[in-house]
Formats: sequence, structure tokens, C-alpha cells
Amino acid sequence: MASISRESVLNALRNVQDPDLGQDLVTLGMVQDLEVAPSGQVKVRIVLTTPACPLKGKIEQDVREAIQSVPGAGPIQIQMDAQVRGRATSVGAPQASNSIPGVQHIIAVSSGKGGVGKSTVAVNLATSLALEGARVGLMDADVYGPNIPTMMGVTEQPRIVNDPKLGEIFIPPTAQGVKVMSMGFLIQGDQPLVWRGPMLHSVVSQFCHKVQWGELDYLVVDMPPGTGDVQLSLAQLVPVTGAVLVTTPQEVSMQDVRKAFHMFDKVRVPILGIVENMSYFEDPAGLRHHLFGKDGGKLLAKKFGVDFLSELPIVQAVREGGDEGRPIVVRAPEAPVAQSLRTLARKVAQKVSVLALHGGGPGAQVEFGKFD
Ligand SMILES: Nc1ncnc2c1ncn2[C@@H]1O[C@H](COP(=O)(O)OP(=O)(O)OP(=O)(O)O)[C@@H](O)[C@H]1O
Ligand SMILES: [Mg+2]
Repeated sequence: MASISRESVLNALRNVQDPDLGQDLVTLGMVQDLEVAPSGQVKVRIVLTTPACPLKGKIEQDVREAIQSVPGAGPIQIQMDAQVRGRATSVGAPQASNSIPGVQHIIAVSSGKGGVGKSTVAVNLATSLALEGARVGLMDADVYGPNIPTMMGVTEQPRIVNDPKLGEIFIPPTAQGVKVMSMGFLIQGDQPLVWRGPMLHSVVSQFCHKVQWGELDYLVVDMPPGTGDVQLSLAQLVPVTGAVLVTTPQEVSMQDVRKAFHMFDKVRVPILGIVENMSYFEDPAGLRHHLFGKDGGKLLAKKFGVDFLSELPIVQAVREGGDEGRPIVVRAPEAPVAQSLRTLARKVAQKVSVLALHGGGPGAQVEFGKFD
């Protein structure tokens, strides 16, 4: 029997590509703890760039087949693992000086118009990424109408502690496996809030730098409606990896999302893609009613040359999940809309991984592997 060597296994693994990142696993540094026993037994740990990798199964299969093809290979043990790489560190540049220590990626969920489902997408995106095994935070940057504590079912308040370097800082409570910070924790009752630009800037700054986020793979930020001071402050204060734009299919919402697109372009935040929410309502007979028009989000994505990430139907349980503080991905994980949200989260994680490796920024052309 031919004897198998470490080198021959590594060579075989050089033929396995990460389809999204466009390079082989060895070059990408994903092959770890490779052990090749004289008996032919092979053990390896494959470290993907996100635990939410939609191609995890395919990559594992490709690795298995590559090792099996090496003469002398015996039983194969593959451990699939993941480590999210920060954007700046992956492209070889020093970490941006304004980054939040320990936080690899900041993902903004935004739209032009109010009420289109940003917060719903943000809570389900954050919760889905946590369900995939990522370390996740959710910042409610909607200081006018902070809904996140309710939608995440947060029962605790943040604790305030004294940090020797930073002074008073917040320890965010955890809900659905996600660390959550919101203005909703800090205001009393139903008081309306009047904020001026500098105050908003200061709140966003505190939420970035005076909250003990700890080690996070993804910090999802739920934006207020519009293209105002909060969006600009966030982009100025911290390096935002990318923005997910939520729209409903009708013209007025799309007009507003166009504005959001141009705003993020100006502040050099890449658009990860467009989510069309409330795309249709399916009646009990299975007939789809396009209450807010049809395909608006798709057309917009095409026009701007960005990805169309998901279309989400109107489902009563989604609204109920928000009101009850149990995101639909937890409340009814088998429901098709929950599955669509899980897929959306994997796509977002995948795009973030690609941006981290290849850099990005407005105008960057990034090819993505196809899956659905
Ligand atoms: N796909 C959906 N199906 C059913 N209800 C939904 C869906 N998406 C959102 N909703 C409901 O619509 C309402 C508005 O959604 P949400 O609060 O997420 O929007 P938003 O864009 O964050 O609003 P705002 O601009 O006020 O922050 C909520 O009650 C939410 O539960
Ligand atoms: Mg909202």
C-alpha cells in the first residue's frame, strides 16, 4: 500500500477552492491541525471565515473527496470550524484606529423610509448569526423610536461599571444569544425625544465606544429611518463593513432607498445588498397578493448593481414575534419565512467574508458564488 504523507494531503487540499473567496483552502490558511498517521488516518480542522458559511457542507465534501483521492488515505476526520476575520486585519492593513476593540465587523441595517421592516430584519439577522454560532451584538441606533429591547425580548437593563481607562461604561444585556444596547434602556416611559445633531453624534459615539461589546464577530446596527445624522455619525465614527438596505416593493419606498444608497456611497460604506420586505401576502389557498407592488427591490438591486439578498413575505407571525420579543427565527424556525431569514444571514456573512479578504468599498467589484 502506498504510504501517505502530510505533503501529499496538503497538495490535494490545494485543489479545493473556497468558491466565494476564489482561492484554495491552503493559501487561505483554512487548513489547520493536519495530522496524517502512518496507518493512513487523516485528521484535519478546516477553519472557515464565518460559522454562517452557506457553503460549509460543500466545502467539507470537497475536502473529504480531495483527501480520499490521495493514495493510501484511510479514515478521514474533518472538524469544521470558523474564525471571523476582521476587514482591516485580513487585507494586511493595521486595524483602523477608530474601530471598536474586539469587534470584527459592523453591519448597518438601513432604509430610506420608515416602517419597512429594518428592525425586524436587524433582530432576525442578529439572532440568525448567533444561531449559526457567531458572537453577535445588536446596537439599536434608532434613538427616536428604540424598538429593539421589545423585539428581542430583553428583560434586563445594561449595567454601568467603572472602567479605569474609559470611565463609566455599559455592560449590555444578552437576549437570544445577542448582546443588546438601546436608547430604550435609558429613557423613561413614553417621553418623546428631541435630539439635535451633536447630541445624536454623542449617543452613537457612546454606543460604539462606551459599551463593553467584548469580542464580537458581527455588530448589527439597527438604523432609524432616513438618511440623517445617525447614519452619518456611525459612518464617521467607526469602520462600517457594509450596509443592508431594506425596502418594500412600492415606488415611494424605493425612492427613499435610492437616497440611502447614495448616502452610503458618499460615506464609502459598501452596500451588501437589498432586502425586499413585505413582498407579498400568501393567502391560505397559496395565492400571492402583491399588496405593495411587485419586484421593486429586485429592479433596484439590478439598477445599482448590488445583490438582491432576499424577498420576505408579509406573515402575521413575523409581526407577532416582534411584539412578543421572540424573533421569528426562534419562534417558528421551520416556517419558510424564518428559513428565508436564516439564508439571508448566511448570505450577509458570506459577503462580509469576501469583503474582509478582498477589501471593497464603493465600486469594488466582487464576485459571489451562487447558492440558494
Ligand atoms: N415581513 C413582515 N410580515 C409581517 N409584519 C412585518 C414584516 N416585517 C415587518 N413587520 C411589522 O411591521 C412593523 C414595522 O416593522 P419594523 O419596526 O421592523 O420597521 P422599521 O423599518 O424598523 O420601522 P421604523 O422606521 O419605525 O424603525 C412591525 O410591527 C413589524 O412587526
Ligand atoms: Mg425600526
